[in-house]
Amino acid sequence: MINNPKNTDSFKKVNRDAFTHKHLIGIETLSPEEINIIIDLADYYAERLDDRAFKPNILKDQIVLTLFFEDSTRTRTSFEMAAKRLGADVVNIDLRTSSLSKGESLTDTIQTLHSMLRPDAIVVRHSEYGAPTFISQIVDCPVINAGDSWHEHPTQAILDALTIRRHFGEIKGKKIAICGDIAHSRVAASNMILLTKLEAQVHVVAPPALMPQKFPAGSNSAFIQTYENLIEGITDCDVVMMLRNQKERMQAGLIESEDAFFEEYGLTSEKLAYAKKDAVVMHPGPMNRGVEIADEVADHPTQSLILEQVRNGVPTRMAVMDILMKENR
Ligand code: CP
Repeated sequence: MINNPKNTDSFKKVNRDAFTHKHLIGIETLSPEEINIIIDLADYYAERLDDRAFKPNILKDQIVLTLFFEDSTRTRTSFEMAAKRLGADVVNIDLRTSSLSKGESLTDTIQTLHSMLRPDAIVVRHSEYGAPTFISQIVDCPVINAGDSWHEHPTQAILDALTIRRHFGEIKGKKIAICGDIAHSRVAASNMILLTKLEAQVHVVAPPALMPQKFPAGSNSAFIQTYENLIEGITDCDVVMMLRNQKERMQAGLIESEDAFFEEYGLTSEKLAYAKKDAVVMHPGPMNRGVEIADEVADHPTQSLILEQVRNGVPTRMAVMDILMKENR
């Protein structure tokens, strides 16, 4: 009966009805209980991910439309894989070759695709802050934010939380350092909100030029400490999460040079030794090796959870679509 998850206790016990949002735009509006509903279901799917025979058909006859206005490897592929594992049809639109380049407005593009495909969910990545919210106001189906500017990347934060919980068994009380270009990172924003809602201790480590002026809306500053020095920031931490410098959103001149940045803020095994003995390293990708992270850390066979994060992207997105698309089945 493995192809019919509705018969399993752990599938039934996830209380989807307690999740009341139509869209997933950010972590900001979610309660800790709602975050845990998604993580619990993602954990259920993660346990079954390697079983190729496990193809729950709960989204059969539903259409998922993915709209990526910005480049992506991990997020786009894992949303497509997740939708297909749940039995949905997936339509991927390459917006770089769409009529937007002929001057069509975003509203007209969305209304055209919505009218033609009648999607049951839309996944959107956009370089403009707030684009997923805007789209959610002109369509009648759930919209899932796959990253908008430096605002939020909610499914990345949820898959990071799933990775931490599956490794350590819990998130509350864990000391988690988020290091690098915090100011321009939607991943840092969503993680600061999620991790503080789940009562982890968050150390934010960045040079002054890359430290945000204020913490993201929805985060709890009582659980956040800031550091300019990488070694001080990661000392005694359970998790060290490294971030890429977001050059596409960064003003020129904010860092002196990539070599100088690596010297001060690049994670090497020598610096990692200041974290807890059993500390793990995470990175949402794409990585810039030799800028924020050294090869020996990124590829460490036991301390690096980077490929585990990528793997957990699929069950996390399965859980999000399962919960948001529950009305039509
Ligand atoms: N972490 C992440 O969002 O990666 P992509 O840009 O490859 O989707």
